[in-house]
Amino acid sequence: MDRFIIVGNRNLSGEILVSGAKNAILPIMAACLLAPGKSVLKNVPNLIDLKTMSHLLRIIGARIEHNGDTMTIDSTDVCYFEAPYELVSKMRASIYVLGPLLARLGEARVSFPGGCAIGTRPVDLHLQAMESLGAIVNVEHGYINAQASQLAGAEIHFAISSVGATINTLMAAVLAKGVTILNNAAMEPEVDSVIDFLNKMGARISGKGTTSLRIEGVEHLFPVEMSMIPDRIEAGTFLIAAALSHEPVTVTNCEPAHLTILIDKLREAGCQLDVYGSSITIQAPELLNPVNIITLPYPGFPTDLQAQFMVLMTLAKGVSLIEDTIFPDRYMHVAELNRLQANISLNRNIATVKGVPKLSGAEVMATDLRASAALVLAGIAAEGQTIVSRIYHIDRGYDRIETKLMKLGAKISRENA
Ligand code: UD1
Repeated sequence: MDRFIIVGNRNLSGEILVSGAKNAILPIMAACLLAPGKSVLKNVPNLIDLKTMSHLLRIIGARIEHNGDTMTIDSTDVCYFEAPYELVSKMRASIYVLGPLLARLGEARVSFPGGCAIGTRPVDLHLQAMESLGAIVNVEHGYINAQASQLAGAEIHFAISSVGATINTLMAAVLAKGVTILNNAAMEPEVDSVIDFLNKMGARISGKGTTSLRIEGVEHLFPVEMSMIPDRIEAGTFLIAAALSHEPVTVTNCEPAHLTILIDKLREAGCQLDVYGSSITIQAPELLNPVNIITLPYPGFPTDLQAQFMVLMTLAKGVSLIEDTIFPDRYMHVAELNRLQANISLNRNIATVKGVPKLSGAEVMATDLRASAALVLAGIAAEGQTIVSRIYHIDRGYDRIETKLMKLGAKISRENA
């Protein structure tokens, strides 16, 4: 298993490039199942999660090529409707094939996703929405079985704002007969990106950027070509890495409009940020101010940046409170950060972070994707050597993170232990 050896206390400076957004690409790959023919996705990074999704789509009958940053998905021969346990247990986003398979083949069998390091993560909203669209859904022997000879439009109110349930329902409703209305839909940029892709394929979805979406079902969709949006979580991770340093860093190829809340919070912490076009330059202050955050659905603070922001606050001059309302158990990184001599205490889903003058390198273990990114940032800021093990988590969602950070001056080597 690979691990990172990080020599800390390094100053980062220079330019760092953001890749395409994993959480937009995963559902868009699944959306390609809806239209027979060859779709082309541009700005697609090299990530384990995307390989897992490719594997799954191949099992279903699609042909996929990924050369450089271009991915071609030919779903002409899609004919199998099962997402097996081995793949769903590796990556929960496999549930994204449920809506497209139901819409295209009238049947889907998807292994029921289990819990993961950030909490229990139910899929009840996905299943209720498919039932509302007329599917017969039952869960048996660890599999979700769904069937519908013809999905029919319906009015659906999501009890919780869910990115996954919104996208899955959109992908089913685009080929349903009649009109579907989604209330309390998620507004994350990744949802907007899927809407853009589906509309380009010939779907009729209106209300983008709001919590109320209207989908007029169509009979056929067509393969298309589209460039993938930049990854706001990767961009945010790099901005936070730079905020832990003392030289200016420019994050390029990002979409600043997707990062408004983070930019505000970094300014509150005393950083200077200059935004121009698709670049953000950040310069950290001598000492960071403490800043409280509460994670919320977009445009609130993203839960996927909670762990990284916590690292930043471990070095602020005072006390900050960090509350995760999306995944209340997403705090596995707290104990690891305390191993680096951070001072964090946890009371239910609120972490109290008392700033310390420095972190001290140690051996730590990555528990999930974003927590591992946080540990890498902490290792770069800490004095001495930090070893982060189980970094396969990080390769799921970051394209060569060590190579990108090393260009800024970080000292990281990958070892096969
Ligand atoms: C997506 C992202 C993940 C991010 C999360 C929140 C992908 C592949 N993953 O995950 O990185 O952290 O959004 O921004 O895009 N919920 C239910 N029932 C459901 C579905 C969700 O109760 O059927 C709850 C969840 O437990 C959570 C909340 O709704 O408390 C939001 O989760 P959701 O937006 O669905 O997250 P994902 O789509 O799984």
